[in-house]
Amino acid sequence: VNDQDSLRYEIMEWKEKRNAIILAHNYELPEIQDIADVLGDSLTLARAAAQTYADVIVFCGVHFMAETAAILNPDKTVLLPDIHAGCSLADSITLADLRNWKSAYPDAAVVSYINTSAEVKAESDYCCTSSNAIKVVESIPEEKEILFLPDMFLGAYVQRATGRKNMHIWMGECHVHAGISPADVDNVFRDYPDAELLIHPECGCSTSSMYLLSEGQLPKERTHLLSTGGMLERAKNSPSSQFIIATETGILHQMEKENPNKTFIAANRSAVCPFMKMITLPKVLESLKENQHVVSVSETIRQRARLPIDRMIAIG
Ligand code: 13P
Ligand code: SF4
Repeated sequence: VNDQDSLRYEIMEWKEKRNAIILAHNYELPEIQDIADVLGDSLTLARAAAQTYADVIVFCGVHFMAETAAILNPDKTVLLPDIHAGCSLADSITLADLRNWKSAYPDAAVVSYINTSAEVKAESDYCCTSSNAIKVVESIPEEKEILFLPDMFLGAYVQRATGRKNMHIWMGECHVHAGISPADVDNVFRDYPDAELLIHPECGCSTSSMYLLSEGQLPKERTHLLSTGGMLERAKNSPSSQFIIATETGILHQMEKENPNKTFIAANRSAVCPFMKMITLPKVLESLKENQHVVSVSETIRQRARLPIDRMIAIG
């Protein structure tokens, strides 16, 4: 029995003892993905957090995800195994920034990506994730102005896809995805010209890819902008055998596991989220044993932040 096996065994024992569930994002380390009860994208994990009967939720992801679970579950214990697992995108807008922005557009509807703090969500009308951002924007009456935050690449993608003119976009970015450039995609395509291209809309290459797609310079049937969950689905169901993946590289573990006969190539191999990789097996065990680190949200903020999340979950 090696160290990882005994850690896994202990984690399972503690999970049972505490009636806990382990939720993990698709960017987590392989060994964390492998112990998850639910592995998925942000929307899948928010839904799982809303539906669970467990007493304890161990969130193997980043802080805003654990906070979202806490907003949905005031009576459960939500644990983040490393309290420093933050998110550069969520940090790109503060409550003061948003209040300032809103004062310039007092009648606008605020659409916040799930990658935001609970305080920012509490000042928002709708939440969205990469898998439902278009649907959420389309659900808002045409004449209503929209403040979309905080990701500029996702915002530009949604604006292009919906043709929405009265949408203002915050200039935030995720440093990991912003670093995946059009040149990266171009280079990998040169080596794998027949591959299918799966792009996360947060990427620095997403806007140019949409342009190239509309100009016929990228193959329509082989280019898709998707959430991480959407990418995993597409990889399973597509007839292609090679895929260029433009997102955080942690997702390749699950893709390769589910599709042993297909080839997956990272558009940029250094696209690694340091925050997602902070969660390790020893920290998961420690979190269950020591009840750390509890993520909670004050009741006033929680009640206000719940509304935009519930709206998002209802939209789909
Ligand atoms: P999704 O998994 O919802 O596509 O989100 C990507 C992401 O950057 C989460 O931090
Ligand atoms: Fe945040 Fe980017 Fe890491 Fe996702 S990949 S958690 S958006 S820093």
